Amino acid sequence: GFYIGTAVAGGGHHEEQPYPDPFSSDRPYREVLAAEFSSVSPENQMKWEYIHPERDRYNFAAADAIVRFAKQNRQVVRGHTLLWHSQNPEWLEQGDFTPEQLREILREHITTVVKRYAGRIQQWDVANEIFTDTGALRSENIWIRELGPGIVADAFRWAHKADPKAKLFFNDFGVESVNAKSDAYYALIKQLRAEGVPVHGFSAQAHLSTRYGFPGDLETNLKRFSALGLETAITELDVRMDLPESGVPTAEQLAQQADYYQRTLTACLNVDGCDSFTIWGFTDKYSWVPVFFEGEGAATVMWDDFGRKPAYYALRSTL
Ligand code: XIL
Repeated sequence: GFYIGTAVAGGGHHEEQPYPDPFSSDRPYREVLAAEFSSVSPENQMKWEYIHPERDRYNFAAADAIVRFAKQNRQVVRGHTLLWHSQNPEWLEQGDFTPEQLREILREHITTVVKRYAGRIQQWDVANEIFTDTGALRSENIWIRELGPGIVADAFRWAHKADPKAKLFFNDFGVESVNAKSDAYYALIKQLRAEGVPVHGFSAQAHLSTRYGFPGDLETNLKRFSALGLETAITELDVRMDLPESGVPTAEQLAQQADYYQRTLTACLNVDGCDSFTIWGFTDKYSWVPVFFEGEGAATVMWDDFGRKPAYYALRSTL
């Protein structure tokens, strides 16, 4: 009943990110993916810009391949994501739609995508990153900006209707600790549940950096969501570090990284209903980190050649 997951690389929107499609072309990658994990998350392949590139056209090929692979390897899938401010197609962000049209576009998208994979997706990140660090709703989120905050509840209702068995999540980064952002989720989820909206889970991405230290109250924070009757999950764990001139992390850095990975897993294991623990890619070869965080890297549990780092062994020994 406890799932260890990874993001499946592919389809990033930065040209610098070093893959087109390792999933189909990189055999050792595929073998590790099949052997080491019981859950998979599409890193980009179910995002709007990828799966819905034109208003009247969906592109399901890459997402289908992941779901098929998961089935063959008896893995569950986390769907990611339905309502987000980022990686939306241009036709949507630049389009000139009335509120009624926009609402219908979202309803149609959620219904189509969730139905297609109904029964195959264990957890869906319905709403991703809707709050800022101070706990305000993000104004750059097209849905919330154009349609008001009530659209979030509708998104959960539509997803639930399309797949009544999938567990529906709020997902964000920077919510590992008790802070203004996680407080905002706590208050919103409590309210939505009181109104009968089908919200089942709250998840922390856990993109950690040794620059900022370990969020020591992770377990405490997850437990308060669990006490609301929610499932919780770690969905995108990686631990980046400042790379020395040589590009090769020191033994101390690797030990610190291993410690962060292990403490995150331990926190999850200690919380009732935290049954899904996902790392955001398992090899540095395809990691998003060096592309998005200048000077930082080496964030995953395996080197480019799939050699295991101390973090890998730290996770294994904790399970
Ligand atoms: C990242 C992917 O890893 C990159 O390939 C892509 O270019 C940008 O998005 N929070 C999320 C994920 O919810 O979808 C993001 O994934 C990382 C931060």
